[in-house]
Amino acid sequence: MVRARDLKERERSEETQRLRQVENELKDPKNFLEYLVPRPLRLVLTGFTAASCLVATLISGSQLLQVLQRGDAPPDASTLLVNVTGTVLFAALFVADQRAAEARVERRTQVRAAQIRLGDREVLVNAEGERMSRLKEVDADWILRRLERWGRRDVMPFVGPAKGAILAGLVAERAPSLAVEVGTLAGYSALIMGKALPPGARLISIESDWKWALVAKRFVWQAAQGEKRSKAEGERMGRVDVWWGDARRQLPGRLSNQRIDVLFLDGLPRQYLEYLQAAEPALAPGALVVADNAGVFAEGGLRDYLAYVRSSPLYQSRFVASTLEWRDDVPDGLEVSVFIGGDGYRQ
Ligand SMILES: C[S@@+](CC[C@H](N)C(=O)[O-])C[C@H]1O[C@@H](n2cnc3c(N)ncnc32)[C@H](O)[C@@H]1O
Repeated sequence: MVRARDLKERERSEETQRLRQVENELKDPKNFLEYLVPRPLRLVLTGFTAASCLVATLISGSQLLQVLQRGDAPPDASTLLVNVTGTVLFAALFVADQRAAEARVERRTQVRAAQIRLGDREVLVNAEGERMSRLKEVDADWILRRLERWGRRDVMPFVGPAKGAILAGLVAERAPSLAVEVGTLAGYSALIMGKALPPGARLISIESDWKWALVAKRFVWQAAQGEKRSKAEGERMGRVDVWWGDARRQLPGRLSNQRIDVLFLDGLPRQYLEYLQAAEPALAPGALVVADNAGVFAEGGLRDYLAYVRSSPLYQSRFVASTLEWRDDVPDGLEVSVFIGGDGYRQ
């Protein structure tokens, strides 16, 4: 009976410890000073030095007073001055350190509250009734939500949720073995497409800017880790690879021996036709070619591209209306073209 109670008690304290550990995950970013002199040691040092300087100030002050009272020699106030300066300086450092720590705690509380509000953090109550919280594990959906917040705030040219839902539907319906995207940016549309891929399928997303290629690689990797964890629950994401380079050179070169089932064009509008023509020899019969911003750039950068897919006997093309990313009031859409050329057209 006693053993059972002890065991329960131990389990409870282990659980509390585990949750406390989890709670600590949002630690303050450590700066260089923090590594050299940790805060508790800093407080002892500054507090002790301030107190010593205060004692020294009192002693040198009383000595100076005695000299003044005796009136024998012109008093030397330099020691008193050094001690007063030391007291003020170290007391100020002590208070500033305390205030900075309080501000960090306050900021951390605000960040946590915002994360709970946004659904990124879950609240738990342990066996002792203590309320704790932890960040939800990162998966593709979590990253997509974060990218959407970033996109909306900074008006990033991601495909956005409205056109993204259409794109995901098209990819899921076509069920490609290989999908290719031109223009990765941070990987928003790549993740949307990756989630819609059937098991075993692959998406190659090509990005010409190496900084964005690195950003996207990180998000895609994080999402893949999350998806691996949730595989047990039956969820999975197709394999997504980010290639760095100009799609006009990558497409004919690296993909010449493969068959592309879905091609999503979202690079520079005036280059869409070049991307398509570079990919054309690798398009599978019945491949789906989807071009973003076919509404807003119809009379601008996409004019030649749209004229080509709408008049070429190799394609059956239609416009799917939607709205511009982050702007429900601005019409835009996707040009969806089915490649009907098949392998025969190449002879
Ligand atoms: C509109 S953004 C892509 C947005 C992304 N598809 C999304 O929805 O999240 C266009 C991207 O295409 C890239 N890009 C421009 N020209 C390119 C090219 N020739 N080859 C590959 N990527 C290119 C740009 O660097 C930019 O990151």
